[in-house]
Amino acid sequence: MYKIIVTDKLNADAIEMLKGFGEVTYDTEIKSDELKVIIKDFDAIIVRSRTKVTADIINAATNLKVIGRAGVGVDNIDVKAATSRRIPVVFSPGGSTRSVVEIAVGLMVAMARDIVNLDNETKKGIWLKGKVEGTELHGKVIGIYGFGRIGRELAKICMAMGMKIHAYDPYVKDSDDAILYNDFNKFLSEIDILSVHAVLTSQTNHSIGTKEFNIMKKGIYIINLARGEIIDENSLINAIESGIVKGAALDVYEHEPPVNTKLVNFKNVIALPHIGAATAEAQKKSGTMIVKDVIAVLSGKKPESCVNSSILDG
Ligand code: 3PG
Repeated sequence: MYKIIVTDKLNADAIEMLKGFGEVTYDTEIKSDELKVIIKDFDAIIVRSRTKVTADIINAATNLKVIGRAGVGVDNIDVKAATSRRIPVVFSPGGSTRSVVEIAVGLMVAMARDIVNLDNETKKGIWLKGKVEGTELHGKVIGIYGFGRIGRELAKICMAMGMKIHAYDPYVKDSDDAILYNDFNKFLSEIDILSVHAVLTSQTNHSIGTKEFNIMKKGIYIINLARGEIIDENSLINAIESGIVKGAALDVYEHEPPVNTKLVNFKNVIALPHIGAATAEAQKKSGTMIVKDVIAVLSGKKPESCVNSSILDG
């Protein structure tokens, strides 16, 4: 019987499916050094973003046949180390698309209408009617950085809201819905709201820093539901203090939980604890997708979504 370890919270139905296939160890608190010791006993591991599947862990995993990431970003997995050991890394793109799009829209509206602060003030008995002037999103330009599944779906919803859609993604060459840019700086200079949906790579890491903030229109809103490292947090702090950035909504941070308390404590920053994909629906989809793919690999079948699929072809 296959032995499978799940080290991050996984949907209950997905866990049940897994139990029908193998012996499941479910430990969502396990630390990296403990995992490194016991990983040799397992045929498969399923994680979300908390567990870092490092080269050290992969190299200690002498029986490992598949790594499953129930989610989109695989930056917490050393895919290079997995590939060199010919271990497929499967993931669940698409599982959380709708949830991330919906929260992006919610955050955009929340910033434009200052919903979080007004809620706090009203609860404190402070009645700000007559002292508030929000912004309509209709007619504004949303700049979608990263035009994959989430970016494209967000574009459709924003279009329905009467927004203008601009996008930057060097891997996307045409779109019916968005004005696509080749020039990142030009893209940044022409948008009212920046919503980050790019994958974290060495190219996107800190791709938004002081130089980029200085190009942006004064009063821009920033949303980051992708990865914290894409934005240089110290530059963001400066851009908030100088008024270039009117508001930011952050779900992800350079370090999680965030150590940059100054950033999360600005009144015009909405700070969330990396919950873009934390809906019942997204977790059910992502969980069942990943379990199906892990079972597929263990059964010698082709998985639906594999990051290093070339190793399956040989
Ligand atoms: C993802 O990459 O899928 C999201 O960042 C969600 O991460 P999580 O599975 O840790 O919530």
